[in-house]
Amino acid sequence: MPPLTVAVTGAAGQIGYALLMRIASGEMLGKDQPVRLQLIETKQGMAPLKGVMMELEDGAFPLLESVKGTSDLEEGFGDANFSLLVGAMPRKQGMERSDLLSANAAIFADQGKALSAAAAPGSRVLIVGNPANTNALVAAANAPDMLPEQFMAMTRLDQSRAEGMLAEKAGVDVKDVDRVIIWGNHSATQYPDLSHARIGGKWAKDVIKDEKWLTGDFVSRVQKRGAEVIAARGASSAASAASAAIDNIRDVHLGSEKWQSIGVLSDGSYGIGGGLWYSVPCACPGLHYTRVKGLPIDEYSAKMMNTTEAELVAERDSVRHLLPSSYDAGV
Ligand code: NAD
Ligand code: LMR
Repeated sequence: MPPLTVAVTGAAGQIGYALLMRIASGEMLGKDQPVRLQLIETKQGMAPLKGVMMELEDGAFPLLESVKGTSDLEEGFGDANFSLLVGAMPRKQGMERSDLLSANAAIFADQGKALSAAAAPGSRVLIVGNPANTNALVAAANAPDMLPEQFMAMTRLDQSRAEGMLAEKAGVDVKDVDRVIIWGNHSATQYPDLSHARIGGKWAKDVIKDEKWLTGDFVSRVQKRGAEVIAARGASSAASAASAAIDNIRDVHLGSEKWQSIGVLSDGSYGIGGGLWYSVPCACPGLHYTRVKGLPIDEYSAKMMNTTEAELVAERDSVRHLLPSSYDAGV
């Protein structure tokens, strides 16, 4: 099988460290799929990156064909089939993710340009660095030779958190939970929606008859889980974020029977305005994803979905200076 090339930015950071060995061992693209890693760091990050590259070599991964480290974006994204944009500042206790816009969004404009110039045709890009949805918008807007569908903002970690909490409440294994949806922004306004969720094939609301928990504690715990981890760990989630990135790409590439929430360019469905990277449920038949459309939306859900949309609109307005004037994503 010919190798696939995976570019990772911020490769010497916390998430990078938890991510790279798993990509090298075939957990993301398949146990028979050779990979080439192209690791991108800042100039200051090159020294620790060298150490990470030594460890990759020492791991003696049979599927790992080559590893390159660089701070040159076009070299790093050159012929990449998958690019994981992780490199960005993480938030500290007391911050919201949108507070990172001024520090991080510009990074994604340069990376969008370089991806457009250098990545393989039809490549897929997953934006992990926060605030992920609006960074995805900035990257896609600056990539004139790529399609918006190629850019995904990561909300899979929120989905996994929600599935874990639901499984715990129901006293079942997490594998028995599906159709949990994360709508909107990877932020405290996101809407983790159980209206369509199933537990062991049964409607979750028939299994957990605790409406107060479903629309109260459950929603706010998922929304604030990132902050809860930061408060406990003194640093933002890393291993679980790496796991979610692996799950996201694996399910899109290899396919999955489960729905997966992904931040994708809104297309007007569910009444959400265009031009935002808004998380929606997607089906993953293999090699691509399609939005799940036509789900009934109740009044409570519609209100929650509009709240997170409004936050994304405000974030987009604050990065207009990074969007080319010719850019039109159906706004
Ligand atoms: P970290 O500080 O440990 O690592 C970030 C790395 O990125 C550093 O090594 C840094 O040198 C590098 N970097 C910074 N700017 C760069 C650039 N322009 N090009 C290449 N590399 C660059 O942070 P982390 O814990 O790995 O988190 C990375 C990002 O992921 C943060 O923004 C964090 O908030 C975000 N995150 C997102 C999710 C999610 O679910 N979407 C989950 C967890 C963390
Ligand atoms: C998370 O959800 O854990 C990450 O986005 C990190 C953060 O800032 O919360």
